[in-house]
Amino acid sequence: MLKTSLNGPNLPDSFLFGVATAAYQIEGSADVDGRGPSIWDDFSHTDGKVVNNDTGDIACDHYRLWRSDLDLIKSLNVDAYRFSFSWSRVLPDGRGNVNEKGMAFYDRLIDGCLERGLQPFATLYHWDLPLALYETGGWTERGTAEAFANYAELMTSRFGDRLASITTFNEPWCSSILSYLYGVHAPGKKDLSLALKTVHNQHLGHGMAVQRIKSVNPALSTGIVLNLQSVYAGSDTQEDKQARGRHEIFHNGIFMEPLFQGNYPSEFIDVLGHELPQAWQEDLTIINQPLDFWGLNYYTPSRVINEASSNAKYPRTKEAPMDDTVTRTDIGWEVSADSFYDLLINIYDRYKLPACYITENGACYNNEPVNGEVEDTERLQYIKEHIEAVAKACENNIPVLGYFAWSLMDNFEWAEGYTMRFGLVHVDYETQQRTIKQSGHWYSQLAASHRKQTI
Ligand code: BGC
Repeated sequence: MLKTSLNGPNLPDSFLFGVATAAYQIEGSADVDGRGPSIWDDFSHTDGKVVNNDTGDIACDHYRLWRSDLDLIKSLNVDAYRFSFSWSRVLPDGRGNVNEKGMAFYDRLIDGCLERGLQPFATLYHWDLPLALYETGGWTERGTAEAFANYAELMTSRFGDRLASITTFNEPWCSSILSYLYGVHAPGKKDLSLALKTVHNQHLGHGMAVQRIKSVNPALSTGIVLNLQSVYAGSDTQEDKQARGRHEIFHNGIFMEPLFQGNYPSEFIDVLGHELPQAWQEDLTIINQPLDFWGLNYYTPSRVINEASSNAKYPRTKEAPMDDTVTRTDIGWEVSADSFYDLLINIYDRYKLPACYITENGACYNNEPVNGEVEDTERLQYIKEHIEAVAKACENNIPVLGYFAWSLMDNFEWAEGYTMRFGLVHVDYETQQRTIKQSGHWYSQLAASHRKQTI
């Protein structure tokens, strides 16, 4: 058995431990109690979009099992639970009529957290856009940003006084670039122009939502969650080093600069500014809202090289060839806690930022139970090394307030369906039985011993 304590520096006394999930990945009950469809229902029900044509129709059945799931979270000794609201469960058309049965579910969930001493960290948008809004243009239309701000106000006025924090977007890179340029996630488009309109309108939706949240509840801790990349050049050549810089602008800069500085990177504007919605400049002050915190989701580094082909589009980069000696998780992602540490240091060096939470970090290993036990030593090791990287960053004055493991339990892993498992808790999708994995037991002891040491 691995020891529970960390090697190296200690975490700050007030450091918080949590676990994270997202609505479409766990709730199921897709057409129960008046929930409207989202783009992920539509996408997962389209043949060939998700491995095995898996859908979130049932998922972890959390909509019905929420009570025992909260007990499970409590048994992991964590301080906080990060979950997302399903927009179309509370507003089936994305705007207009409120579905009170959907609202009642989140009411129970939030009260259930508080009764168990768990701090509720809520996210408004974890990718499940109401289908009705997609049908009127989705994120490529400004009206969706306005609908999002109304939704943010509604949720804040109902639940804001009971939440520990509220997040506008989870990983807008995924819901724009991955979904509208690479076509991997819903709605599965491959169009640079639509992708960049989406980037901008999501920024705008974020800014408008922060204004509305603060107008209802100025004290509610408000932020956004980003999946920034820790980018390295695949070689020492000048071409690849320049490619690294362009990649960083396109995948980090076009999120960080508008949100935290009120501008887009000038190189990006020179090349692609014409693809942004008209009069985008006028939105920058709305987008650049003061935030109480931001969240970083981190899994793996990006290694890139120059894309030399003459028809390549900006940022003209491609993945560096795979190095077979590198350790990878079962989803093929490189394991590198050092790259996580580098990112934390570099990002605070480069931008003026509020304190952050690690809102997601974790690893995919597909171990199954044997005699009722799941031995996932590799996940445990991955999480331990990454928390050690956070502790080292804290010691170097990077203000990290807490760490949320992704994920509480195995769940619908988007385009990978149920084939890829990230949970601290194993889920048998036939029986819905939950089994705490070795990593979950370890994490729970770590959280408990940290609390004990610091009281
Ligand atoms: C997302 C999660 C996802 C995880 C693993 C993050 O990008 O926020 O929803 O399951 O990564 O892929």
